[in-house]
Amino acid sequence: MNKTSIKTICCIGAGYVGGPTMAVIADRCPGIQVHVVDLDETRIQAWNDKDLRLLPIYEPGLDEVVERARGRNLHYSTEIESAIASADMVFISVNTPTKTKGIGAGKASDLRWVEACARQVSKFAQGHTIVVEKSTLPVRTAQAIKSILISAQKGSSNKERTKSFSVLSNPEFLAEGTAIRDLECPDRVLIGGEDEDAVEALAAIYGQWVAANKILRTNLWSSELSKLTANAFLAQRISSINSVAALCEVTGADVREVEKAIGSDSRIGTKFLQSGPGFGGSCFKKDILNLAYLCNHFGLPEVAEYWENVVSLNVWQQKRIANIVVQNLFGTVSGKRLAILGFAFKANTNDTRESPAICIAKSLLEEGAQLAIYDPKVEAKQISNDLNLQEKFTQGSDVQKSEPAFTSDGGWCKAKSIFDAVTGADAILIITEWDDFRHLNWHKIYSLMRKPAWVFDSRAVADPKEIKLAGLNLWRVGDGASYEEC
Ligand code: NAD
Ligand code: UGA
Repeated sequence: MNKTSIKTICCIGAGYVGGPTMAVIADRCPGIQVHVVDLDETRIQAWNDKDLRLLPIYEPGLDEVVERARGRNLHYSTEIESAIASADMVFISVNTPTKTKGIGAGKASDLRWVEACARQVSKFAQGHTIVVEKSTLPVRTAQAIKSILISAQKGSSNKERTKSFSVLSNPEFLAEGTAIRDLECPDRVLIGGEDEDAVEALAAIYGQWVAANKILRTNLWSSELSKLTANAFLAQRISSINSVAALCEVTGADVREVEKAIGSDSRIGTKFLQSGPGFGGSCFKKDILNLAYLCNHFGLPEVAEYWENVVSLNVWQQKRIANIVVQNLFGTVSGKRLAILGFAFKANTNDTRESPAICIAKSLLEEGAQLAIYDPKVEAKQISNDLNLQEKFTQGSDVQKSEPAFTSDGGWCKAKSIFDAVTGADAILIITEWDDFRHLNWHKIYSLMRKPAWVFDSRAVADPKEIKLAGLNLWRVGDGASYEEC
């Protein structure tokens, strides 16, 4: 094989990263056959569904990209063995969650899926194969992958074609909700590795649509560590601004004015300065905890503690918002209906992993609240899994119209619309910044609610003037004015 020319790719893992990333590669490189494989048959079936609305993840623009490439040079299947065997390049794009037990539980990455992939590749690969770490991994994981692959190289029998491998790190920086845009116009593509041929083969793939000056080459360890560091820096900005939001609320300052004032300094910049209910998503928390674990492992406990505080402040922010709701509703939400607008961890995704909505909803359920949850993309089944609680009452049942029940058991239902959610509610909590929540008919909403009626806008997306004019009480994150009025 000409090492610099890739004809066939296999990507192990058809999740939020593997699915869209490979769709864009296939779309931009029609000469390369791309096979995305996964153990999860249901997920693969959904990727192959004729109805593009049923793709397993929701991302704006993804359906169009999949439609163009699927069946031509983009294939989703569970045929892991044959996909690896025919590939010149194998991307490992599997989940790397935080370990839940054993050494490093609650902090270290659980690498069992990555190791399983390395073993599958070592077994089924033929000829020379470039193995690309696409998953986010602890620094020096490539060493472990190499060890597994080298043992396969040594063990390959004479009858088999000689196996050989190169390992690269190529972390993914896409954000959910903007994945297609991020993949098509990335700020940078990072490739870490020592084998120059392999690095250039991967660079040539991205080079089909990414400008040469945006393709950065580093050593393996810098590449692995840069991914954890990028997420830690982004999350740190959110915790920083959320800490300032709390200070704004008690001093009469407005965090949006502070955001603008500090963001105008080109050294600080405007991005990732929006205060909210705390960061969610599958990666920020796990990657920071992993970074802290590595720092401790390498004898740097002060550095570990510094980063752990970013996560602690995030948890505090979520609990703080739940407490503010309870305090303002006369110290009790027991039996009260509360409308939760938004359950996804951010707008334009159906992903709820680590969503602030989960922590806030759980705290309110603990207080006995009856939650009517509305999200345009999240299914009731997902909410039920996240809250670890079955849907208690269904929309349209009497609970909507009746007086609050004097029960200490919290419950929830999935509302079909915003108006369904708010009917009979004492308060509305805006948790996800979906566009639908920016321009609401507050007069109509007020007429449907029990009085006094409250809005708790943790994203500051709704119009404060309209809300107050309609007669509702308002709390907005980081808004000193609304605190003073309360
Ligand atoms: P995901 O859970 O959505 O998908 C992972 C998929 O891998 C699952 O479908 C699972 O069934 C499959 N899988 C696991 N082991 C397998 C095996 N041995 N063979 C075949 N399939 C296997 O995860 P994700 O969100 O796509 O994240 C993947 C990696 O990318 C993680 O390391 C994550 O930190 C990183 N990352 C995620 C994002 C994001 O926005 N979600 C962005 C950048 C990086
Ligand atoms: C994040 C990073 O932005 C990606 O670069 C990275 O690839 C990805 O993690 C990953 O490794 O998984 P993602 O979590 O999808 O992407 O979404 P973000 O846009 O970063 O938002 C994360 C959380 O922070 C969301 O809950 C969002 O609402 C919140 N956020 C974001 C704020 O509260 N304020 C902001 O100003 C920005």
